[in-house]
Amino acid sequence: MKQGLFISLEGPDGCGKSTQITFMEQYLKQEGYEVVVTREPGGTDISEQIRKVILDKDNMAMGDTTELLLYAAARAQLVSEFIKPAVDAGKVVICDRFVDSSAVYQGIARGLGIDMVYAVNSYALQGMMPKRTFLLDLPAQEGIKRKRGQHELDRMELQKAEFHEKVAQGYRTLAAMHKERIVIIDAMKPADEIAAIIREELQDLL
Ligand SMILES: Nc1ncnc2c1ncn2[C@@H]1O[C@H](COP(=O)(O)OP(=O)(O)OP(=O)(O)O)[C@@H](O)[C@H]1O
Ligand SMILES: [Mg+2]
Repeated sequence: MKQGLFISLEGPDGCGKSTQITFMEQYLKQEGYEVVVTREPGGTDISEQIRKVILDKDNMAMGDTTELLLYAAARAQLVSEFIKPAVDAGKVVICDRFVDSSAVYQGIARGLGIDMVYAVNSYALQGMMPKRTFLLDLPAQEGIKRKRGQHELDRMELQKAEFHEKVAQGYRTLAAMHKERIVIIDAMKPADEIAAIIREELQDLL
């Protein structure tokens, strides 16, 4: 049977994840792979309902621990209902954000600690970790700038500049800890250049 593959994209808001996923999906399908794309938080009916609670800007009073657990709950459903069955069926699964987002946003930027975040999430993951993670590295304010005017900012996007700075730096720290899995790409490069870098990495994986 064909072997499945699980890939994630990470990076600050507006770094170009959706743009690159479109390129990746197109390329992989053209190469004959069965590809499915999903996103976090969300990706299943239940997880999308949890997403609404997490991102609702009326929920500014949400505690950091509540935030951590809601992300983990949405992830647990996504893994069991979607990611694991798809990988087991031999598909290529591309996920827009995964547990590294929690490590950076809740573990580093909120200060809950990376080890605690992975420990809590170990219940949600069922052993599923991406084989490769592409980190689109961008100065924090550049991402927010790219997104302004596109849509109304959600609860996470509305966090202070200092928080976004911690996120951008946190991703670099995390990538240094997981060099074997996380590929850092300069997201200031033009989108087609980034797509070419990712394509080469994918060729090595497939
Ligand atoms: N390499 C790039 N250089 C300049 N602008 C880019 C690049 N890639 C994407 N953009 C633009 O930046 C904006 C954000 O891109 P995109 O939606 O792909 O990012 P994202 O990481 O998916 O954001 P979100 O956090 O909202 O999911 C879009 O307007 C997109 O066209
Ligand atoms: Mg996106």
